[in-house]
Amino acid sequence: MTHTVDEISMPGSLHGPGSEQFREYAAVRNAVETHTLGTDLLVMAPPEILAEYRDNPHRIRRHVVVREDDRIVGRGMVTLRPHLPENGAYLMVDVLPTRRRRGIGSAILQAVEAIATDAGARILKVAVAHSSTPGGPRLVSPTGYGDVSASDDGVRFLTSHAYALEQIVRISVLDLGRAARSEPIDAGPDDRLLTWVGPTPDEWVDDLAVLRSRMSTDAPTAGMVQAADPWDVARIREHDERISGSGRTMLTAAVEHVPSGALVGFSELICSDAGRVAIQEDTLVLREHRGRRLGTALKGAAAELLRRHAPTTEAVVTWNAEENRPMLDVNEAMGFRAIGYEGAWQRRL
Ligand SMILES: CC(C)(COP(=O)(O)OP(=O)(O)OC[C@H]1O[C@@H](n2cnc3c(N)ncnc32)[C@H](O)[C@@H]1OP(=O)(O)O)[C@@H](O)C(=O)NCCC(=O)NCCS
Repeated sequence: MTHTVDEISMPGSLHGPGSEQFREYAAVRNAVETHTLGTDLLVMAPPEILAEYRDNPHRIRRHVVVREDDRIVGRGMVTLRPHLPENGAYLMVDVLPTRRRRGIGSAILQAVEAIATDAGARILKVAVAHSSTPGGPRLVSPTGYGDVSASDDGVRFLTSHAYALEQIVRISVLDLGRAARSEPIDAGPDDRLLTWVGPTPDEWVDDLAVLRSRMSTDAPTAGMVQAADPWDVARIREHDERISGSGRTMLTAAVEHVPSGALVGFSELICSDAGRVAIQEDTLVLREHRGRRLGTALKGAAAELLRRHAPTTEAVVTWNAEENRPMLDVNEAMGFRAIGYEGAWQRRL
């Protein structure tokens, strides 16, 4: 059967011109992730997908579709950060499970690689969930932490296209109905725990910009090329408006180091009006303030804020590098359990 490969643009809204095509595109994204993980926990609602797939001042996203008989059966996405050219481009290729092994994935990859290299990317990266089939031949992470089934479709596809596995990221879920509530941790006399719901309060925007900037340098990235990614006040504001403008609410816990008056750690959850699941976004304690149980205190405080603010939320999902033992220790103690694994892949041109 013949297929066509086309670049598409994201519509201005969920109801105007192009919105039907966008919904079909979003449905392919959700169907492939649900098939890989064996759960629909990570399905995103169309308003959330549209908010994230449109360009913003710090991220350009370009989209490719493959159609058969006028139906979208595969999609590709390129993510570029023009302010960080040395980071290269992130690519994504999804083909509906019933249409695989007919060259569609390769056609999409060729199209998205061309978009990335035409934009100047010298490193092509992929972060993708793999099926968690146990046993059988394994591909082991070069970090020494974690492996994936060598017969997973994505693993076979990426290795056959010269991408190298660099890191395994564990996807874990906390079932709020079953997990014990975290005992609040008493912060020491120098540390004050704060929480807020929604956009970052004015008084903390500068401090949060420092913390978010440190995420790019302080979290383990294994062999993935990762340049320092600076945040400023305007970027925080754009980020916060994008979340609140798409049916989602940010719930933040932070620690103020009282003697200096500065924030030294934070943990952020995003819950969705549409969904049952909250997504764990960044958690960071600045290196110089580690070892005082602030990570545990922050995650416990954020979970309590979620239970109070969004009591119908059933679960929290988080992503952690498999070698990030300090963060996994905190999460395991709270009751998070692994539901799948992502591979971080890279191809240097
Ligand atoms: C990976 C994926 C995009 C491949 O799509 P596809 O249309 O089946 O890809 P192709 O038909 O072009 O396959 C190209 C080559 O990849 C390899 N490959 C892909 N799936 C394979 C499998 N199940 N077993 C063995 N080799 C496989 C083969 O070398 C294949 O060539 P061949 O069929 O001539 O042997 C698809 O399986 C998918 O959407 N998976 C989930 C998302 C994902 O993992 N994306 C990849 C990272 S971006």
